Amino acid sequence: MSILDNRPALKAEIDKVAEVAGYLWTKGWAERNGGNITINITEWVDDKMKAMPAISQPKPIGTVLPDLNGCWFYCKGTQKRMRDLARDPMANGSIIRILPDCAHYEIVADSPVAPTSELPSHLSVHNYLLAKGSPYRASLHTHPIELVALTHSKKWMEKDAATRMLWSMIPETKAFCPRGLGMVPYMLPSSVELADATIKAINEDYDVVMWEKHGVFAVDTDIMSAFDQVDVLNKAAQIYISARNMGFEPDGMSDAQMQELTDVFGLPK
Ligand code: 13P
Ligand code: ZN
Repeated sequence: MSILDNRPALKAEIDKVAEVAGYLWTKGWAERNGGNITINITEWVDDKMKAMPAISQPKPIGTVLPDLNGCWFYCKGTQKRMRDLARDPMANGSIIRILPDCAHYEIVADSPVAPTSELPSHLSVHNYLLAKGSPYRASLHTHPIELVALTHSKKWMEKDAATRMLWSMIPETKAFCPRGLGMVPYMLPSSVELADATIKAINEDYDVVMWEKHGVFAVDTDIMSAFDQVDVLNKAAQIYISARNMGFEPDGMSDAQMQELTDVFGLPK
């Protein structure tokens, strides 16, 4: 028995998570247990689910998140592999609900798999999105090789330096990642400080944020769209690196070409 049985809408969302987990592994972005996914599933929760007993003790989130009162999430399990999650999302992740104190959660289904160690960042970002009235319900953290490599240079950690370079590699990059790439300096993985810095960067109007020398954190309406934004950015980074490997600095699209694209597609400046 699974909580997903006879809940096709909820199952469809979890199936998307499993599909994306498979892509992350295939792309080489998910070594061992690398990366994590959470989705806000509150809109698919019915009264029967609300009446289900917890299968864990209450556990602290590590911070207080008032806008998550009554919210439910699917979370990748800590130390679980994306390649295993792709096959069996409910054995490699779990469904949690936030308790009324907004400082603790409990696991409800299917089995007591402890959520990702990056839960403070994921839940803080969901809290921020709800407070803002955003339609975004999914967050993705992953380790895309070329984007992480860029963050090992101070030059690309400068505000919007990488954004401008990546957008100019291929027109689709700005079209499909119109807010660009925010930069968060190195902080300890899973820390509340990293969570706070991530929200600050998202608040500056980025959907995708780099964690220096670690990975990306992306938000969007659903997990497939969050993945797509990271995918187009990393593709642009690969084009840059391919040109460098051929022995030259790529020209990039000109300012006039970028401006035309921005005007015609109605993209933000
Ligand atoms: P988890 O296995 O706890 O999700 O951690 C993976 C990771 O990428 C930490 O940043
Ligand atoms: Zn990580």
